[in-house]
Amino acid sequence: MRATDSTWWRDGVLYQIYPRSFADASGDGVGDIAGIVSRLDYLEWLGVAGIWLNPTMPSPNLDWGYDVADYCDVHPDLGTLGDLDRLVAEADRRGLRVVLDLVPNHTSDRHPWFIDARSSRTSAHRDWYFWRDPRPDGSPPNTWRSNFGGGSAWELDARTGQLYLHHFLRQQPDLDWWSEGVRDAFDEIQRFWFDRGIAGFRIDVVSELVKLRDLPDDVDPGEFARHADAEETHRVLRRWRALADGYQPRRILIGETWVMDAENLASFYGTGTDELHLAFNFPFMFASLDAAELRTVVEQAEAALPPEAWPVWTGSNHDFVRFPTRWCGGDERKVRCALLVLLTLRGTPLLYYGDELGMEQVEVTGGAARDAADRRDGARTPMQWSGERGAGFTSAGAEPWLPFGDYAERNVEAQRDDPGSHLSLVRDLIALRREHPELRSGSYESLPRAPGSWAWRRGDAITVAVNLSGAEVGLEGVEGRVAISTDRSRDGDPVDGRLRLGPWSGAIVT
Ligand code: GLC
Repeated sequence: MRATDSTWWRDGVLYQIYPRSFADASGDGVGDIAGIVSRLDYLEWLGVAGIWLNPTMPSPNLDWGYDVADYCDVHPDLGTLGDLDRLVAEADRRGLRVVLDLVPNHTSDRHPWFIDARSSRTSAHRDWYFWRDPRPDGSPPNTWRSNFGGGSAWELDARTGQLYLHHFLRQQPDLDWWSEGVRDAFDEIQRFWFDRGIAGFRIDVVSELVKLRDLPDDVDPGEFARHADAEETHRVLRRWRALADGYQPRRILIGETWVMDAENLASFYGTGTDELHLAFNFPFMFASLDAAELRTVVEQAEAALPPEAWPVWTGSNHDFVRFPTRWCGGDERKVRCALLVLLTLRGTPLLYYGDELGMEQVEVTGGAARDAADRRDGARTPMQWSGERGAGFTSAGAEPWLPFGDYAERNVEAQRDDPGSHLSLVRDLIALRREHPELRSGSYESLPRAPGSWAWRRGDAITVAVNLSGAEVGLEGVEGRVAISTDRSRDGDPVDGRLRLGPWSGAIVT
């Protein structure tokens, strides 16, 4: 059964691919788009509905594609526009959608817009970026700090004697979204990709898009500082949503929303139908694997989101320590509990490539490190397809661009036919979602629980319970049959009144 065109992103599971690390068809040690095409059968087998690719556009790679030098092409390391067209077509044949990463907050300093902007104070693109004089004492125009390294967010450009703003690397100048030219340019960029059949965008740092117009000093520079004009940022989001809604099937917008409270998060959905389709919930990712903490984050989102809005749940991504390490400390029982939670809450689950194997953070040190901006290499190592040399990622003799993790023991080939593996658990959970409408779209309701555990009902008839503690717990008032248990030993068992859960285990009762 396939989700209908308009709700695929609510009904299905999304899968994030770091293109340099998924599959290397050319054999140069760097993953590429042809490699992704060669693994589409796997993704179809796994049962996901769509893939989000981290940046695929030409870039000097100081921030690995998040410093874009051309928004309407493909990075030569990854392939060509033709390869991307082929990916979209081949994905479509398998009922899979392709979502790209869009980086509107800043460009690379090699982007022609910035090269023009810095060339003179009167250049055509000057006002596409922020240019200010230093203060009379020579200090930067305000106290804003860069998210990378924590130094001033201003850089002096000698040629014109003014400073420009950059919230990330100094080679990533911030665009000024008060400029109409910038807004028009990004409408065109979105149309360019939508016309090629791209299903939507994950939008980088979208919550900080339009900067406060008068660039005020931070009141408390120690706090996580927000520099966005909320009203104007929402205006831009409504403009994009109207553009995306003009396509058939409708294109989707997923936002990287850097806010730590549910009300703010909810605001990025607008009325529920006029801004983002999905807004990432960072409080969920930053919580620990603790029943009360996670339940509170989920209940707060459930309460705050407008009725038509739809949550999205993430355990890992390319910026943070992978969840099997961060949440679970490598304890495989905990990994299975986390996977059960991610795939059964009300909302779209987002799996980061390798989550389905329980792939852990890899120690990447010394000369092997590539991410000078923020040392996030350990979450970006190659996908572990097999135990052979090259891990099924690249050819046997090639040097992978980042070192492999524990591929000899943990890989797709080894887990694929093992009913007790993480991969089988994930595939079965996805299949169960597809089978039960209530698991896909039923309401969420917290149920009474024992300390250390968390239980909820989906729709009228499905109960999910996890015991995130080292002691056995019992949950009263549960009737039905265990559809999937994390240790698989209980699958199919009847439950009449009391669901018993051993340490670090969970179950779905239908
Ligand atoms: C986002 C991306 C991150 C990138 C940053 C700057 O947070 O997820 O990888 O470094 O934006 O573009």
